[in-house]
Amino acid sequence: MSTTISVSGAGFTSYEVEVGRGLLTGLGAQVSTLTKGRVVVISDETVAALHGPAVLASLEGAGLRTRILTVPPGEASKSFTELERVIDRLLAYELDRKDLIVALGGGVVGDLAGLAAALYMRGIDFVQVPTTLLAQVDSSVGGKTAIDTPRGKNLVGAFHQPRRVIADIDVLATLPPRQLRSGWAEVLKHGLICDAAFFDWLAGEGAVGVNGDLVALERAVIRSVEIKSAIVEEDERETGRRALLNLGHTFGHALEVELGFDELVLTHGEAVALGCAMAFRYSATLGLCPDADVKRAVSGLAAAGLPTRLAEVGEAGAGALVRRMTGDKKVEDGHLTLILVRGIGQAFVERTVDAVRLAGFLRTEGAR
Ligand code: GLY
Repeated sequence: MSTTISVSGAGFTSYEVEVGRGLLTGLGAQVSTLTKGRVVVISDETVAALHGPAVLASLEGAGLRTRILTVPPGEASKSFTELERVIDRLLAYELDRKDLIVALGGGVVGDLAGLAAALYMRGIDFVQVPTTLLAQVDSSVGGKTAIDTPRGKNLVGAFHQPRRVIADIDVLATLPPRQLRSGWAEVLKHGLICDAAFFDWLAGEGAVGVNGDLVALERAVIRSVEIKSAIVEEDERETGRRALLNLGHTFGHALEVELGFDELVLTHGEAVALGCAMAFRYSATLGLCPDADVKRAVSGLAAAGLPTRLAEVGEAGAGALVRRMTGDKKVEDGHLTLILVRGIGQAFVERTVDAVRLAGFLRTEGAR
């Protein structure tokens, strides 16, 4: 049994996201409806060792000719160097535009393989097979692909939608607990943005998902993909509503940079969770959000083992954080854009956040 969610937008060919158990074995049958050509699986060394054999067997069982190309695990692979190496391999394999790429892995692999697919021969098809919770609920859906540069994350990329996304819940069983929690932060974020009943389920009965309960995880992934795809359908290029998906990210990204981008200190999901808690408290400070909602939001995040206070993760300066939050750019009229909330499930884009007031708030949060 699986659930299929369609994603269709004005600017791209519609595609389906399939969420369910045991889907890797049926991957070949799915991919063979999209190409009769060759398939290059791009993965990282860790995921390839775990799932590569099953994926290749399924593709070859469906009569497809395959190759597998691996990159080192970790964010450092989202680089010009790896992108060039991947594209050079695709050229050496003489892949043509009838062929297809399968991105098998987490967000790093999906972003890198997606960008390679966007650029190769001006764009070839690719299928996302996300193997982390974070990739299943966020990065594999919506067509954002990118690499990093020394000047910042995701600064070079393209919108290139996948032809299909296949999210096999069973692969989550091999994830380390901290990585599962990190993905859970993005799941909670979706409830906080626009679905209070979903958030309450995640913080109550569904909370077993963060400890690896696959039934709860399946429901959490399905609802997250429904929420994300509805937003992407309306605003693929993030000119408006898609920015809501950045709830907690502007605070979170500044914290990640200030704490040295060290996954051992702060994972992306932990930064997002702390960022969401800060966005709720800041909204309450501005008189926008009832205290009861702040309490509920923060306790849902904390109960999942995610940080909700700066003191739990390290030290940072208020001025430095605000500069990071403005992207180190000159703040227009002393204002910046943040995702704020009127309550759980009621996020909105605020384009006139006062930088001085925000720095004062961050001091009350314990920033220097
Ligand atoms: N991860 C945010 C977005 O896809 O827009």
